[in-house]
Amino acid sequence: MNGGERADGSRMIKDSLFPLSLFGIFLGVLLLMSGIHVGLVVLMNDLEWSDIIQIIVPMMYWGAVAMGLTLFTRKKIKSTYEEPLHRLAEATKQVAEGDFSVYVPTIHTADRLDYLDVMITDFNKMVEELGSVETLKTDFVSNVSHEMKTPIAIIKNYAELLQTGKCAEEEKLEYARNIEEAAGRLSDLISNILRLNKLENQRIDPEMKKYDLCGQLEECILNFEEMWDEKDLELEVDMEENAFIRADRSLMDMVWNNLISNAVKFTEPGGRVTIQQTASQGHIEVSVSDTGCGMSSESVRRIFDKFYQGDTSHSKEGNGLGLALVKRILILMNGEISVVSKEGEGSTFTVRLPASAPSSGAGRNTGQESEEKTDGR
Ligand SMILES: Nc1ncnc2c1ncn2[C@@H]1O[C@H](COP(=O)(O)OP(=O)(O)O)[C@@H](O)[C@H]1O
Ligand SMILES: [Mg+2]
Repeated sequence: MNGGERADGSRMIKDSLFPLSLFGIFLGVLLLMSGIHVGLVVLMNDLEWSDIIQIIVPMMYWGAVAMGLTLFTRKKIKSTYEEPLHRLAEATKQVAEGDFSVYVPTIHTADRLDYLDVMITDFNKMVEELGSVETLKTDFVSNVSHEMKTPIAIIKNYAELLQTGKCAEEEKLEYARNIEEAAGRLSDLISNILRLNKLENQRIDPEMKKYDLCGQLEECILNFEEMWDEKDLELEVDMEENAFIRADRSLMDMVWNNLISNAVKFTEPGGRVTIQQTASQGHIEVSVSDTGCGMSSESVRRIFDKFYQGDTSHSKEGNGLGLALVKRILILMNGEISVVSKEGEGSTFTVRLPASAPSSGAGRNTGQESEEKTDGR
């Protein structure tokens, strides 16, 4: 609990209908003033001043008192409201001009805040938030530009080489292939950015339908067949005959493809990738494990950030958006993802999704009765 906040999070704000200290000051001042008035009258009587003077002097006296009070109140209003509001107006102007480093100090200490202080504190908080959003935006723009630069430079170089006309037929083919590959990377990057943007702004309306997750996993695994063979990876699949979930199938395709492609990408030839599906207490879990390079704890913390790529030796493939997309999709599907990884030993990504009961007749078996299917190669 800090000074100005109660345990329940609400702030202690000075808000008294009858401030005793103010009452004390007013009473003291009025008593003193009327005391002086009485003293003046007695003095003038003793001195036997003329009636007219005896009327004018008290009037002048009260005039001076009224002037004093006016000046005092004016000064008080100025220091309590006008100056802080002026500082706030200046700060707002700075923020409007794009400077998010401003900070307006509160007038009172944390234990004596008034509503103006609260407004100032909230203003400071708002500026801080705006500042971080702005930083994220600038980071995003510079990341995108950086990711686009490399393929564009490749396309430009090879196109220039092709134009010289001095290259052999074989070289021409190779250059064209390189151009195609770079264009492919650009197009992947842009589609991933668009997808992520749609997912983040909730502009995607997921088509939630019940389907068999095991069938989907099998299809995805088959799509990687060529890559397993190319890298000579051992594949182990361990799952039930079927497991039903309610989710958007095409978005979930993206999840499995990203996790499997990472496992393949970050595992050295001869390694092993294991895909395991289990069901328990209303949830379905799918884990994708590999015996690849693994990650440091610092990497594990950041892999779901946009554009983060931990292993720079692989960074020419992919753009660090895969896991950011996976995470976003799983949020939409009410799922979760967790990672366990050890550098040099491998990683396990585990996705957990709410299970959907199989419709009558559709499920051959579920839960404990399930038959396990292992496909070890
Ligand atoms: N199976 C894995 N093994 C080791 N590192 C991984 C694995 N999956 C992801 N990573 C790390 O997480 C980073 C982000 O992954 P991702 O978002 O898919 O981007 P990309 O695949 O484009 O690099 C990768 O660059 C890598 O450092
Ligand atoms: Mg990836």
